[in-house]
Amino acid sequence: MTTVPRVLCPSLRKRIMSAKDAAALIPSGVNVGMSGFTGAGYPKAVPQALAEHIREQKTQGENYRISVWTGASTAPELDGALAEVDGIEMRLPYQSDPVCRQKINDGKMEYIDIHLSHVAQHAWSGFFGKLDIAIIEVSGITEDGRLIPSSSIGNNKTWIDQADKVILEVNYAQSAGLEGMHDVYYGTALPPRRKPIDITRPDERFGEKYLMCAPEKVIAVVETNAPDRNSRFSDPDENSCRIASHLLDFYTTEVENKRLPANLLPLQSGVGNIANAVMAGLNEGPFNNMTAYTEVLQDGMLAMLKSGKLAKASATAFSLSPEANKDLAENIDFYRERIILRTQEMSNHPEIIRRLGVIAMNGMIEADIYGNVNSTHVMGSRIMNGIGGSGDFARNGYLSVFMTPSTAKNGAISTIVPMVSHVDHTEHDVQVIVTEQGLADLRGLSPRQRALNIIEKCAHPDFRPQLRDYFERACAARRGMHTPHLLGEALSWHQRYEETGQM
Ligand code: COA
Repeated sequence: MTTVPRVLCPSLRKRIMSAKDAAALIPSGVNVGMSGFTGAGYPKAVPQALAEHIREQKTQGENYRISVWTGASTAPELDGALAEVDGIEMRLPYQSDPVCRQKINDGKMEYIDIHLSHVAQHAWSGFFGKLDIAIIEVSGITEDGRLIPSSSIGNNKTWIDQADKVILEVNYAQSAGLEGMHDVYYGTALPPRRKPIDITRPDERFGEKYLMCAPEKVIAVVETNAPDRNSRFSDPDENSCRIASHLLDFYTTEVENKRLPANLLPLQSGVGNIANAVMAGLNEGPFNNMTAYTEVLQDGMLAMLKSGKLAKASATAFSLSPEANKDLAENIDFYRERIILRTQEMSNHPEIIRRLGVIAMNGMIEADIYGNVNSTHVMGSRIMNGIGGSGDFARNGYLSVFMTPSTAKNGAISTIVPMVSHVDHTEHDVQVIVTEQGLADLRGLSPRQRALNIIEKCAHPDFRPQLRDYFERACAARRGMHTPHLLGEALSWHQRYEETGQM
């Protein structure tokens, strides 16, 4: 490599080796904590070398598998490569890889889907067993052995602290200017020793700029030079633009009614194209000097920082297109003054989210007429990605918004249904539902009032008569009951889709 060396610590320089040699240090059956969050900051060379190693071992008849713990989703070089060779026994806490998803839904991989803020605490409590090895991407190692995090932090602190052995990937493709952008809180503890996290603004720092790791734990250092997944976002389509426009109108009214300040409250924006489109809408909208206390920074938030609409942003990871990633690298000094990357324990911390009064905006698969939301399962059984941070933000935010187009699969599926086929967010955690058809503000409404609002404002006109009919018959049959349902029919829409391909 021709660039300036990034492994400056002499004792760790001695551990530099190839990805293949590092992968050979990972035995079958171990629990491995890897860096990586929404396709950012994941190790890129060792998992692929390990997949190759597993493939070779399998041809010799050995059932070689490991369990993989991360921050959130990674990329084909990690989840895809290891799932492809059937090398993952158990995966947690979030994934979005097509190969991985298929293995989970084929029953070939165990998957634990949990709130992202809970992962470190569960690991410390030992619920997942012992962590044997951590494989962590960093963007550099200082002379005194401190680790400069890369484009995500996720659970890296916890994995490094808990693992017996650590493998570091030093990625020269990550901007050297990331140094100083991070805030790693080392004050975490299990109850009853937990202390308040006393911040009142998204841009307050309360941790260290570096990850710490005892040098004797490091068994390998691998130098890499490869970009993050950097998936492109699709241009906002008509539905996304209409969802964004409904939300903007809603926020404008909230400001007029003095229920939100003129610069809104700190924004959290979920993953995917719709979330990105909403940010594009906010960038064009009337609000200035906004802030973000979120999990992931997608292109939309970077654009808002650049335009000045967004003053400061706190997250745990980037998830950028190649173009936005280039912009980040070229203007890293500008962004470093405005962005803080934290551990996911802190980016998703219920206490902080509640105190700051975050506006949570997340995608969903479906909602029912009473406001229960399914973010994770198709037709009740098939996992899509996972709950991610949506529960951390929805339950604890000041305002909790869920959004989706009103239909899926070319109109065959209504995303507003009588009863959701899986519940991630109960009616008690969902305050606003928005589709391209309109926005239902559920605050202060009883279940039957909510149903009328959701059907009339959010459902697609093609499905509205069917939903009205269901609701009216349920009310008639269950006269006076609090949340009327026809139990024999409540999930019949899903069953009909499975049988006929049409709800
Ligand atoms: N029934 C069946 N399939 C559905 C569906 C429904 N009700 N709603 C959506 N889908 C399918 C879409 O057809 C699409 O399938 P395809 O990939 O085969 O085309 C897929 O689900 C994704 O839908 P899309 O409309 O592109 O939505 P998205 O990219 O905005 O993702 C979630 C929506 C719910 C999958 C996504 O937001 C998610 O994983 N959320 C949970 C985690 C989360 O909220 N994290 C953020 C916290 S910070």
